[in-house]
Amino acid sequence: MLTRKDKEELLGQRGVMIWFTGLSGSGKSTIAIAVERELHQRGLLCRILDGDNIRSGINNNLGFSEADRVENIRRIAEVGKLFIDTGIITLAAFISPNNALRKMAAEIIDPRDFREVYVSTPLAVCEQRDVKGLYARARRGEIKDFTGVSAPFEVPEHPALTLDTSVLSLEKSVEQVLNLILNSK
Ligand code: ADX
Repeated sequence: MLTRKDKEELLGQRGVMIWFTGLSGSGKSTIAIAVERELHQRGLLCRILDGDNIRSGINNNLGFSEADRVENIRRIAEVGKLFIDTGIITLAAFISPNNALRKMAAEIIDPRDFREVYVSTPLAVCEQRDVKGLYARARRGEIKDFTGVSAPFEVPEHPALTLDTSVLSLEKSVEQVLNLILNSK
């Protein structure tokens, strides 16, 4: 049976999980998409896991209760682990609003393969952007348990990186994540 090492040698890269955490609209997916493009240009194989491909598919039976958020992250971590075992650089972009959830993800994956990136863009900025119009709806009470408005977000304790997209350009954020990935080799 072929091992992870065989696959990493085939690809000439090391599998790692870059776990973005932060509020809705903080810039997690935007950074992940730009990082993926840079990695691709360098001949490195990458997989993004985000709401668009996970909550719409494998997790389409889950909502935003505490229990569902746990199950959301558990499945994402298990799927991510498969990619990492294939030697693929995996970028997960989910709110994952508390330390227990992120710890569970790190333990499923293996803490040695897990890098936490806190996208720390302040709530006021995320809310002002309100790309999907969800903050306005949450403020009107049309969405319950909305992270940052009516559900908590716990700041990570020891992230490998903290990126505030209200002060950092996308290029600067991408550069820092690339360094983190390339130094994980
Ligand atoms: S997580 O908390 O379970 O990690 P996840 O990242 O998968 O969240 O999904 C967050 C996205 O779902 C948000 O960016 C937003 O578009 C949408 N969403 C819908 N309802 C909620 C809610 N109650 N709280 C947070 N995000 C929500």
